[in-house]
Amino acid sequence: KMKIGVLTGGGDCPGLNAVIRAITKSSVNHGHEVIGFKDGFKGLIENRYINLDYDSVSGILSRGGTILGTTNRDNPFNFKQKINGEEKYSDMSKVIIENCDFHKLEYLVVIGGDGSMRLASELSARTGIKIIGVPKTIDNDIVGTDMTFGFSSAVDIATDALDRLHSTAESHHRVMLLEVMGRDAGWIALHAGIAGGADIIIIPEIEYSLESIDKKIKDRISRGKTFSLIIVSEGAKTLSGEQMIKRGIGVDVFNIPRLGGISNWLASAIEAYSGVETRATILGHLQRGGSPNSFDRVFATQLGAKAAELIFDRKENEMVVIKDNKIGSISLKDVKGTKFVSLDDPLIKTSRDIGLSFGDD
Ligand code: F6P
Repeated sequence: KMKIGVLTGGGDCPGLNAVIRAITKSSVNHGHEVIGFKDGFKGLIENRYINLDYDSVSGILSRGGTILGTTNRDNPFNFKQKINGEEKYSDMSKVIIENCDFHKLEYLVVIGGDGSMRLASELSARTGIKIIGVPKTIDNDIVGTDMTFGFSSAVDIATDALDRLHSTAESHHRVMLLEVMGRDAGWIALHAGIAGGADIIIIPEIEYSLESIDKKIKDRISRGKTFSLIIVSEGAKTLSGEQMIKRGIGVDVFNIPRLGGISNWLASAIEAYSGVETRATILGHLQRGGSPNSFDRVFATQLGAKAAELIFDRKENEMVVIKDNKIGSISLKDVKGTKFVSLDDPLIKTSRDIGLSFGDD
């Protein structure tokens, strides 16, 4: 009989509870004991935890957020504490070892993004605790796995937003810009853009220009389509002032203030350049909140069950992944960097085949 700890690190993401439930049920069914640390690595340091059993995970499959308190971005090796009213940063490895000894913990499952995976790897190296990682992010940008849970739910929400913008864009003959999350990668924009019938998809991986965006809008107008839908990934960079001058853009778009995300500036720039009324919507944290969709519930359950299976097989320092439609695992050490949209991604070709623009032609 083993004792297994679970924690959720980084930002929240639809499906976290489905993973916790699957790990718990699977482990309990094999006669093991599970505890969940509250508030990410902080709970591991402060030894705040709850017992996880059939009762505590009952009814959580469809719930957003995490039942393990907040997910936060604390670093256990540089942990902020207030000592005598003063802020200090300390390495908490020793305290973690003590807490793991106290519980006689054999394994720790860390459900988190690439930051949490790096911390988990280091934790194992410094303390000897065996770690299994479950990658989590709506951004789908973790190296080594074809997909992360939460991504599909976020794409659904962005697709629904595009559908809604479609009818209002049409009624007002406007260009509508939807800004979606994704950090430095364009996965959400690419998938939701196709699913929601966008005319232009702007992602960080492909450099766009106002001329090209304008050309697409004008092409549509000449075909009687007096509105356009653009989805833009938050990580898309704006062209530098210098590049704009080089390209001979006659509009002083660079002096338009950039408020909030990229889309407010880009909407003003497109309106100034094309003369077509343009509005921006920033979808924001709606993409992370609420219930996971059915795909993510199934996927998160598979990942949680696989994490438990790796423990039963005495594997250590591995992260569960999906590769070519198979759930498997890779070494935590190999989880480095960001998985960007590749220019060879078949969806890029499909998009271009159907006349979708990336603002670069
Ligand atoms: O990584 C998930 C994510 O939602 C990104 O898409 C986004 O850039 C970021 O987190 C937002 O972070 P915060 O919740 O701290 O504003």
